[in-house]
Amino acid sequence: MAKGKIITIAQQKGGAGKTTLVIQLATAFLAAGKKVATIDIDPQASLTQWFTMRSQNLRNKNLLLHSPVTGWRMQTEVDRLARENDIVIIDSPPHTETDAKISIRAADLVLIPVQPSPVDIWATKPTLEIAMKEKVPVKLVLNRVAKRSKLAKAMHDKLSEYGAEIAKTQLGNRIKFAEGLNRGLGVIEMGKSSLAYQEVAELAAEIARDLDVNIRIAA
Ligand SMILES: Nc1ncnc2c1ncn2[C@@H]1O[C@H](COP(=O)(O)OP(=O)(O)O)[C@@H](O)[C@H]1O
Ligand SMILES: [Mg+2]
Repeated sequence: MAKGKIITIAQQKGGAGKTTLVIQLATAFLAAGKKVATIDIDPQASLTQWFTMRSQNLRNKNLLLHSPVTGWRMQTEVDRLARENDIVIIDSPPHTETDAKISIRAADLVLIPVQPSPVDIWATKPTLEIAMKEKVPVKLVLNRVAKRSKLAKAMHDKLSEYGAEIAKTQLGNRIKFAEGLNRGLGVIEMGKSSLAYQEVAELAAEIARDLDVNIRIAA
């Protein structure tokens, strides 16, 4: 098996949507038939908590692999999981210290969730600079965007000045993202009728194209 693709979700601003992106993308790739592993290196461990609910709820139908690991064991674990899976997604802590840097360096693609507010945009720069310095491809994902908002448009323009690519797919402010968390589910696993489903399917497809991975998710 060829080495799997590693996606690191990073952003020093807490609450930007890192864990949300990990959960939604991991379950979308699973639904597309990929072997997926997630790694939680955030001491707050919310991804690990979600995974615990998932294991209890789905038992042997869980399919996702998960590893909470930090510090000196991380690199070895990332390499091992990348050998054994198609996609590895890393949830990183809300700062740019050593662990976060290692996870950015290890990535084939870094995704930075950004909410359309100046505070979030200022916080984006340090993460972006690390990725660019390490020459790792990086993409900003606009999160919690109100459609046709003037602010979102202005923020989009501001981010373009940073010189990073911005994902074509944006995520709206969707209650649905929080709804499945207690059951350890992603929106892709909760019925096709929601806007959240459409957005996640589209984002996963866009990222798969970036990584040269073939997927099909039912629209
Ligand atoms: N697009 C969205 N729509 C609605 N709620 C969201 C969205 N993105 C994130 N949230 C909520 O915002 C909170 C913080 O998101 P989270 O993914 O935990 O951020 P981070 O991991 O960056 O700290 C969570 O309660 C999450 O459910
Ligand atoms: Mg988090």
